[in-house]
Amino acid sequence: MIRPKDLIENALTQHENVAISFSGAEDVIIIDIACQLDLKPKIFSLDTGRLHPETYQYIQQVRDHYGLEIELISPNGAALTRFVRHNGLFDFYEQGHQACCNIRKIQPLRHYLTNMDAWITGQRRDQSPTRSELLQTEKDKTFSGPNRNLTKYNPLAHWSSEQVWQYIRDNDVPYNTLHDKGYVSIGCEPCTRPIRPGEHERAGRWWWEEETKRECGLHNTDIDTNLIAKAG
Ligand code: ADX
Ligand code: SF4
Repeated sequence: MIRPKDLIENALTQHENVAISFSGAEDVIIIDIACQLDLKPKIFSLDTGRLHPETYQYIQQVRDHYGLEIELISPNGAALTRFVRHNGLFDFYEQGHQACCNIRKIQPLRHYLTNMDAWITGQRRDQSPTRSELLQTEKDKTFSGPNRNLTKYNPLAHWSSEQVWQYIRDNDVPYNTLHDKGYVSIGCEPCTRPIRPGEHERAGRWWWEEETKRECGLHNTDIDTNLIAKAG
């Protein structure tokens, strides 16, 4: 395994078009490390329109704290209007979350990544069985184009939740206030609940669905992909 600091430095300096995807606790550590390295990373967040008020406040807090822009990526307006007209606002509880996530996250991400050579995420192996084989550096098969290789970096792949929170405490890093109310893994408001003691950290995400289906499509390639050699 490569030290997160070294991987983040490599990723941010060796690609012309590279961005950090920001949504929460792990991502803010990546931003914090980049700032310690005196780098000014490009950062984006997928604004699904369904985030908690606390998450919007947190995004602004992180912008102010680091003096960096976080670009908010919105869904395509016409596609979203059509989708809501046909599916309503809560169809995911019956139909599953894939269609809504596709309109609100995957398509906007696909569009954004068209101009990128690489992106950096805060995924960790122990977040989910679907991430247990996660590599620190991989070719992103989902979002690469026919003549374009997109690299995906997961610098904290081998970190535990304890390490994340230790770093946040030791470095006075801002965190989403929902964590003080029992939330651990945080996504959209209607699809996230706090977890009970002893539950797995992602038990509060799409809790009405099977555990193996709890990926929204951002990270589908992380299983069975033998990409760039296993780092370290
Ligand atoms: S998700 O696919 O289930 O939603 P998760 O919440 O575990 O993902 O987050 C894993 C990583 O995906 C985050 O560390 C972040 O890099 C990226 N990510 C998740 N949600 C967003 C978002 N709304 N905007 C940008 N990046 C995101
Ligand atoms: Fe829609 Fe829920 Fe997916 Fe957010 S997490 S995009 S509200 S299905």
